[in-house]
Amino acid sequence: MSKTLQQFLAEQFSAGNIDQQLSDLLNAVADLSKNINDKVTHGALAGVLGFAGTDNVQGEHQKKLDIITNEVFIDGVEWTGSIAAMASEEMDHSLSTPAEFRRGKYLIMFDPLDGSSNIDINAPIGSIFSISEAPEGKVTDESFLKKGRSQVAAGYVMYSPQTILTLTVGHGVYMFTLNLGTGQYILTKENIRIPEQTQEFAINMSNMRHWEPPVQKYVKELLEGETGPLGKNFNMRWVAAMVAEVHRVLCRGGIFMYPRDNRDPSKPGKLRLMYEANPMAMLIEQAGGRATNGHEDILDLQPEKLHQRVAVFLGSKEEVDRVTSYHKN
Ligand code: F6P
Repeated sequence: MSKTLQQFLAEQFSAGNIDQQLSDLLNAVADLSKNINDKVTHGALAGVLGFAGTDNVQGEHQKKLDIITNEVFIDGVEWTGSIAAMASEEMDHSLSTPAEFRRGKYLIMFDPLDGSSNIDINAPIGSIFSISEAPEGKVTDESFLKKGRSQVAAGYVMYSPQTILTLTVGHGVYMFTLNLGTGQYILTKENIRIPEQTQEFAINMSNMRHWEPPVQKYVKELLEGETGPLGKNFNMRWVAAMVAEVHRVLCRGGIFMYPRDNRDPSKPGKLRLMYEANPMAMLIEQAGGRATNGHEDILDLQPEKLHQRVAVFLGSKEEVDRVTSYHKN
């Protein structure tokens, strides 16, 4: 018989891998993602496409769906009794659980809509979340600045031909497909393992001239294929939504890179550490892959700011090891 996400979480609870508050929170995230799925699939019919006319804290133009999905996340988790506070790509500062709701023991961070440039062209997009334990007492932005290794759960929901929730609670990686008929997430892949070797890479090649020398060298070798030092041909993919790139890597291997570049020295990369790189790195490591910033494992980086950016190299271990070693030289 097919296993629902609720059944899976009940089993994880019985096994002592999660407590009741975390189970409630993960069920709430799954529920709210169905609401987001409904909005993104209706698109123009629901009037949710296009720009909102506002910028987020990082100076990026917000799409209407960025704002709508952020509200859906807040409304979907604030009442659960599982969280002390939340932080989001779309909010300048963290938000404590409102006084009318019970305070819980967890912090949740999210990118409510990853891959915004794909929204209006009906290409894959997603939501990413990261959960860790809250400290005692008052929660501030600083309370969130813990290494990625302290996450107790992480995952994403990908809105594409199928809607898929991918989750880890620190005991492997599991994928659940949304059955639109019953409204249930059904376990469709378990114990996902990323092949150590790969012949597929993902990087925005249009930025090549801006990359640092180790990345230039590595990508040049990838492009040289079997006539170069790597001795094999590589294929390239770029979906422009991290959720979709990570999903592909989890399904069939590959290396995904968003390196730092020299366009704006104040930005050490494009992706955000706390609610993009950390949760994805936890999933990748749980599936036997590796995720680094070119120097250190992402999960070992000490965050300094809520909206900090970071370079990302993640996926099949052999290739992430290789590009990371080039940075050492
Ligand atoms: O969150 C940033 C993001 O949309 C990622 O999901 C994606 O990997 C990347 O930016 C796409 O970047 P670019 O615009 O360079 O293709």
